[in-house]
Amino acid sequence: MSNQTPQPDCGRRSFLLAAAGTLTALALPAVPAIARASPAQTLPPLPYALDALAPAISAQTLGFHYGKHHKAYLDNLNKLIAGRDYADLALEDIIARSARQAGDAAVFNNAAQLWNHTFYWRSLRPRGGGAPPQALREKIEAAFGSVDACKQQLAGAALSQFGSGWAWLAQDGDQLRVVKTGNADTPLTAGLTPLLTVDVWEHAYYLDYQNRRADYVGAVLDKLINWEFAQQNLKA
Ligand SMILES: [Fe+2]
Repeated sequence: MSNQTPQPDCGRRSFLLAAAGTLTALALPAVPAIARASPAQTLPPLPYALDALAPAISAQTLGFHYGKHHKAYLDNLNKLIAGRDYADLALEDIIARSARQAGDAAVFNNAAQLWNHTFYWRSLRPRGGGAPPQALREKIEAAFGSVDACKQQLAGAALSQFGSGWAWLAQDGDQLRVVKTGNADTPLTAGLTPLLTVDVWEHAYYLDYQNRRADYVGAVLDKLINWEFAQQNLKA
C-alpha cells in the first residue's frame, strides 16, 4: 500500500524537460492523489505445493481449502474493511480491535480465519511429525510428561471440539498448554502465544476422511505436524 502521489513516467518527464528548452523553471501540473487501489490484506502463498501433503491431505482438499475457503475469508474481509480504519491496520490488530467490538463480529470472524489458516499451513509440512527439536521437546516434557502425552492432548482437543474449530499448542507465560477454540476464535485474543494448530472444520478433512475426524487428526499429528515451526514460535 502506498499513499505516495503517483509520478509521471520517466520518459514523459524527460520529454517535457527537453521541450522546455531554455525555460528556467518548469511547473509540471499537480498530479491528483488517487484512491487506495489495492486490497488491505493479501493471501500469503502456500509454503508447499498442493500435492505436497498427500496422501495424508490430498491435493484436492488443499486446493479447495486454500483456493476457495481461505481466499473467501480474505475476500470477505477486504470487502468488510474497505474505507474503514481497519484497512490501515495489520491483521493481528484487526483481530484484536474487532474482538472488542460486538458489532464487528463479521470482521473478526474473517480476519481471524485469514490468520488461523495462514498459521495452519505453516503448522504442517511434508514429511513432518517425528520428534520435536530439543528446546521444544524439553518444554513439552515439562508440561505434559512426554511428546506422546502432548499429542494425545492435542488429539483429545481436536476430537472433543464440538462442531467447527481448532486445536492448538500454545504458550501461556512460561508454560505450554493445549487449548481448543470454536469457529474462528483464536488463542491470540486470550493473550496466549500459538505454537501450532490443527484445523478441525469439516472442510479440512471431509473429502479425504468423510466423518472420520480421528483419522485425519492422527495423520496430521504423526505425518505432517511441523514441530520446527512450533519451536520458532516459542517466546523466551
Ligand atoms: Fe479451514
